[in-house]
This record gives sequence, C-alpha cells and structure tokens, in this order.
Amino acid sequence: MCGIVGAVAQRDVAEILLEGLRRLEYRGYDSAGLAVVGADKILQRVRKLGKVNVLAGSVDLDVISGGTGIAHTRWATHGEPSESNAHPHVSLDNIAVVHNGIIENHELLRAELKDRGYHFESQTDTEVIVHLIEWELRTANTLVEAVQKTTTQLDGAYGMVALDKRDPERIVVARSGSPIVIGLGVGENFLASDQLALLNVTRRFIYLEEGDVAEITRRDVSIFDLGGEPVTRVVSEASSDHDVADKGQYRHYMQKEIFEQPTALKATMEGRINNDSIIVESIGANALEILSKVDNVQIVACGTSYNAGMTAKYWFESLAGVSCDVEIASEFRYRKFVTRENSLLITLSQSGETADTLAALRLAKEKGYMSAMTICNVAGSSLVRESDFAFMTRAGTEIGVASTKAFTTQLAALLMLVTALGKQKGTIKRSLESEIVQALHELPIQIEKALSFDKPIEELAPDFADKHHALFLGRGEFYPIAVEGSLKLKEISYIHAEAYAAGELKHGPLALIDAEMPVIVVAPTNDLLEKLKSNIEEVRARGGLLYVFADEDAGFTESEGMKIITMPKVSDIIAPIFYTIPMQLLSYHVAIIKGTDVDQPRNLAKAVTVE
Ligand code: M6R
Repeated sequence: MCGIVGAVAQRDVAEILLEGLRRLEYRGYDSAGLAVVGADKILQRVRKLGKVNVLAGSVDLDVISGGTGIAHTRWATHGEPSESNAHPHVSLDNIAVVHNGIIENHELLRAELKDRGYHFESQTDTEVIVHLIEWELRTANTLVEAVQKTTTQLDGAYGMVALDKRDPERIVVARSGSPIVIGLGVGENFLASDQLALLNVTRRFIYLEEGDVAEITRRDVSIFDLGGEPVTRVVSEASSDHDVADKGQYRHYMQKEIFEQPTALKATMEGRINNDSIIVESIGANALEILSKVDNVQIVACGTSYNAGMTAKYWFESLAGVSCDVEIASEFRYRKFVTRENSLLITLSQSGETADTLAALRLAKEKGYMSAMTICNVAGSSLVRESDFAFMTRAGTEIGVASTKAFTTQLAALLMLVTALGKQKGTIKRSLESEIVQALHELPIQIEKALSFDKPIEELAPDFADKHHALFLGRGEFYPIAVEGSLKLKEISYIHAEAYAAGELKHGPLALIDAEMPVIVVAPTNDLLEKLKSNIEEVRARGGLLYVFADEDAGFTESEGMKIITMPKVSDIIAPIFYTIPMQLLSYHVAIIKGTDVDQPRNLAKAVTVE
C-alpha cells in the first residue's frame, strides 16, 4: 500500500528519499514520486509510473537538490496508476502534498474547490487536500494552522505530509487512520509511514497518535493533538538488529521468511512457556484475571490472519472448551452483531495497521466486549496501541507481501493463549497443558524437518506451473491450512486456487475435477483420516490429479494420478503449523517457475491501510 518518506536536513535529501522509498517497496505500489525544495525556494517534482528504480533513473541528483523533501509510493485507489495520478500533488506550484488513505468526501470537496477556481490535474482524492491547504493558507498564519483547518474538512483516513516552497524550512504532517512516524536525527529530522524506511538514517522514533498534526524542522518537532493543543509523544528506540532490508543468501524475502520460521517461533515462545507449563502472566497485563472470566472468544482478522483465527477456533473449542467465532473484519465491522456475555475480542494482524481490522476493534470497543486483545507482529502499531492488551508475535519484520512467518507465529501465539485460557478456566488439566507445551517445545525442530522437504516440493512445482486452477482440501483444523495454502498459491503464482473442507466436495466442487485440476490434500493421520480417504477416492474416481501431504502412518500408496509426499509424524497439536510449511514451499516454487514478482505480487500491498 502507499508509502511516505520525508526529510528536513541541511544536506540534499533526494537520495535519502529514494532509499526510503526502496525500503517501502515491499508494501506494494504502482507509481512513485518526490518533491524537493532548497534555499532557492524552487519546487522540483519528479513522478514516474512503475518501480522506484524508474523514478531514481529520472532523478538527476545534481539537479534535484535541496534539504527539504517528500516522497511517495502510490497504490492506486482513486484513478488509474499513471504519472499524473502519482504523488506528490501540487497546488499553484507552491504547496506539495503526499497522502496515504482515502478521502471519502473528495467529490464534494472537489466541486467546491473547482468553484473557487482550482484546476485539477489528476483523478485522485489526494488532490483535494493540496488545494484545500493552499486555500486555507490564504487566511492562516502558518502551514500548521492551514493543515489543521484542512483536516477538519476531511472525511476518511489519512497520513499526509505538506510542504510550502516559500517556507522551505518546515514540513507539516497529519495522521488520522494511517500511520506516520517521525524519525529524529541530529540537526535533521525525518518522517515516514513505516520506521523501516528510515532505519538507515535514525533509530529514534515518535509515533503520531490519531488526530495529531506535527511541524517538523531541522531542529524541532512540535506536535499538536486533535484539539490543537501542544503535546509530547514518547520517543522510542528501534533495536540495532532491526534493520532487515537485506535478503542475505536468499533469492526473495518470502523465501528468507519461510526459512526464518524456526527462529521466529522460538522467539515467540521464549519466556512464555516453562518446561511443561504455560506462563499465563506472559500473555499480557491482567491476563490471569481476564482469562478466568472469558466464556466466549470473538476473533476478527483479514487474509492470512483470518486463516490463523479459523485454525485457532478448533483449538479454542476442542482444547479449552470455550466457544469461538471467527469473522472477516470487513464483514464484522458493517454487520449488526450480538455481543455474547463475557466475550474476549481478539484481533489478529501481522502489520497492526489493517484498516478493516482496526475499524472492527474500534467498533467492538463500543459494543461491550469484556476486553480487546490483539495478537500482532508490529510493536507500536495502531492495533497494539488501541487494544486493552497485546500479545506480540516475534516473527521479526515480514517484508514479503505473502505472509508466512507471521502466520505460523500467530498460530503458536494462539495455541499458547488457548492453553492459558483453558488453564485459567480449569478446562485444560495439568496433563494436557504439559502435552501442549511439550509439542510447542518440539515445534522449531519439527519446522526445520518440514523445511528439509524444500527440494522434493520444488520438484513437484513444474506440474502446477501450466495449470489455471488448483483445489486444496483438508478436514478439521487442516481445512483452514488448506485455505491458507490456496491463498498463498493464488497471490504469488496467480493461479486460481480454492480450498474446500473435503466433506463439501460432493456438494458442488466435485464437478470441477478433471485431469487439468490438481488437487492438493493435507492429510496427516488423525481421527478424520478415514473420512478424508473417502473424499480422496471421490477425486480419484473422476480422474483428478492428487498431491497428498501425509505422514508415514497414514498408509497411502503412490499410484497413477496420486503423488504422496510423506512427511514425518508430528504431534496432532502442532500438526496444523507443521503442514503450513509444505504449502508455503509449493506456492513459492510454482511462482518461481511462473516468473512472477514473488515479494510484490501484482495488485497487492503488504499493509492494507485502506478499506
Ligand atoms: O497485517 P495483517 O495480518 O492484518 O494483514 C491481513 C492481510 O492483508 C494479509 O494477511 C494478506 O492476506 C496477505 N497478503 C496474505 O499473504
């Protein structure tokens, strides 16, 4: 999704802005641009359709000089991807603005501004912001005041940055619904939509709160809250190992992140489990008290995080005996729902900035949930700050748009939460607690074993590369794992893939089966295996091509039209996490053969900060 970088310095900032944009490329975008102004008060703007490197190729650093600048990567919402729709947008060649988010009342504002004589050059909602600031600046004393007056007229979400070439010493930023972080330098200051963009220039950050407007100069940062009052916000320090914008030995971030899963899982479990018990207090402040009162769980999330929630539903109900509903955030937020008594709301999110999930949290807080927790991977993100408590996954920064290590660490976090909940409520007895914790201890090593199947799975990939469709099947808690497998395949290889609970096959999807439809089955030994085998037979009988991921106890024999990938037997408890790995590897290798942009698949964004 869109990315923002800005800088006010004594040195030329164009290269800093370009490097910041490169670091935000993982978020997904279709065009990029920057505007720079120096002491000469000339506003220089360059915008390009396509990648940051195309922009960089057009920025002559000897010409585009100046110490104050803003830059942007755009992911089109209003108006096609094009140079004229790319940011920064300018008004009367004086004011330049970059913006993340969506302005919902842009049509009305556009009409009013046209009546005042403003000429629009783009189809974007953003252009109304820059003209409004220009208009307000005619009567305001400062750029801050003009931005404050502008924000009161905007409906929707924004993280925005404005500069005025006539006053090149300052930049003004505003945040409402779309994150902005200020990076503190020495005699220079920066801003971005994600601290990752600035880790090469600073490690000291201030996260703006909702409604904040800030003025940034080389030496000062002045922040004003929603009411216009000056406020101080906490300065946080990024750890020195936090700069991860390096693929190391790997070809893609996604591949690196798949192989980081054993480490990410270890980090997520550290200090949260003992030898054979869960440390309930580690779940969060007041967890002991809150969890003992929970009778119902409502999970809200999107995409891969939703699939983690779907998997956890099986655990909440079968292990802890606590009812659990899971809903896609974009549905939950617009539905009239009944809040059950003593319900814990759990949002799941890698980024902590997903607009629909955040809106669902805000709505739920008004609807009488006992407590709202988030399981999230990004410290300081909106979900973390706005929830009653946060249980952090410690996957490390995930750059690949396709979520991998965030998913498996969410599952580990959810399994720990289920165990803590059951322990507090007395529904998980000592022996089961010990069994779950033992399984969790084994998880990193089992994931290493699953990763060792990289080669055999790579050898399967050519079978899929020329296919247009694929079907994934699973039962019980392996159904959401099949769903996650199908999401991975479709998003990075662009092959249409669907997942079904295998028992549903004969209710419709069986009609799709023919020799052109590969069917991937997640089939470890468990209570449902015999039922699943019958479903597999239904596919075989109709000439489907089967790829069965099973364990050595499952008793499958390879035959014409049925390939068996025999994995080691692992504990039933962690098996859903274990079987996620071959699904990730398969989609990765298929995408490699297809030559798609694995880390930044077309049309997608990493943090979906618009609804
Ligand atoms: O940051 P979040 O976990 O809230 O993101 C939710 C989805 O946008 C995300 O999982 C998306 O589905 C991924 N591209 C899946 O790989």
